[in-house]
Amino acid sequence: MAGVANQNILLGVTGGIAAYKSVELARLLLKAGARVRVVMTEAATRFVSPLTFQAVTGHPVRSSLFDEEHEAAMGHIELARWADQMVIAPASADFMARMALGLANDLLSTLCLASASSIAIAPAMNQRMWQHPAVQRNLSRLEERGVRVLGPASGEQACGDTGPGRMLEPTAIVAALETASSEGLFAGEKVLITAGPTHEAIDPVRFIGNRSSGKMGYALARAFQHEGADVLLVSGPVSLPVPPGVNCINVQTALQMHEAVFENIDTVAIFVGCAAVADYRPENPQHQKIKKLSDRMDISLVRNPDILAEVATLEEGPYTLGFAAETQNLAENAQAKLLAKQVDMLAANSVGGDVGFDSDENALLVLWSEGEKHLPVQNKQQLAESLLRILADQYGRDE
Ligand code: C5P
Repeated sequence: MAGVANQNILLGVTGGIAAYKSVELARLLLKAGARVRVVMTEAATRFVSPLTFQAVTGHPVRSSLFDEEHEAAMGHIELARWADQMVIAPASADFMARMALGLANDLLSTLCLASASSIAIAPAMNQRMWQHPAVQRNLSRLEERGVRVLGPASGEQACGDTGPGRMLEPTAIVAALETASSEGLFAGEKVLITAGPTHEAIDPVRFIGNRSSGKMGYALARAFQHEGADVLLVSGPVSLPVPPGVNCINVQTALQMHEAVFENIDTVAIFVGCAAVADYRPENPQHQKIKKLSDRMDISLVRNPDILAEVATLEEGPYTLGFAAETQNLAENAQAKLLAKQVDMLAANSVGGDVGFDSDENALLVLWSEGEKHLPVQNKQQLAESLLRILADQYGRDE
């Protein structure tokens, strides 16, 4: 994304009381130099009149897919092509669900599918609705597809509740869209991230591997990309889509991951070792499927290279962030690993409970030589963004 000045911004407004704030959002986007067109859902028009947005933007507002007059002027596909960015504010629970499913049952949802532009959403809903697992699942799906989620903020709500679900203030939305420009936290920095497990072949159909979904590494790739970094992901076998704008080298084994990392390490400023690399691999992988002929089977294993430790001890190497998944004594083990691997920063998490591997949520204890910070249980994308802010602070200092 490239800020908002001189950008064609399609502002999508969905049905929620926060829709009235989007009038101010349209005004601020125009003031920041954007060209703004507004598309409203049917429900949004119950909260704010399209005429209000028309008066602010100087352009008619569209809300129907079957509007002959508007389709003759700028058809919906043309409108989808016109947009450099789409911002949906407020994004209701219903609209997020429709987006997550890929429905195209009104103009705005159709544009979300038809446009190649980046999409940001500013969710707004009652705090219970926001915390409902169905909404959180839709949120994760959207984030996995590269949708940028702005907010929501926490506080007093129009319905009288207090909690997360308030739409971010229009000034904060514009500021967030501006940050994704050349002024992002890691603008122009090259970052290499390892993610996912590695699979070490025993024979052509069996392997030794780790229980890693790759979600944290992919969330970090997305977060770095949003902050303007040039991201290279070296990924083990996972079933996640590569975030838009991120380059990816797919590997299966630790040796392949090692090779892909060291082919590129000279060019990067930051290395993030998020992969759950298998520490050992079978010494003699069989070329044919092993038959179960005896009651016992011994597999001889040999050590894999420690990619992170090797990168961290390079003489002119990049800034290094490592991860540690621990089942006990989190703080002590993490501190020991920070020193043993000589990494600049270590993010440790407990595994074995409800969070961690394969979960959408996690908590992290982040350590560096002069400090530490605890990031409480949250969605992995939000966690990645919080971690990046700590990293940006420390990386800036160490430069
Ligand atoms: O030693 P341990 O496996 O707990 O360390 C975890 C950290 O080291 C993670 O950042 C992981 O990506 C990295 N690692 C690595 N190569 C290995 C083993 C772990 O890069 N062979």
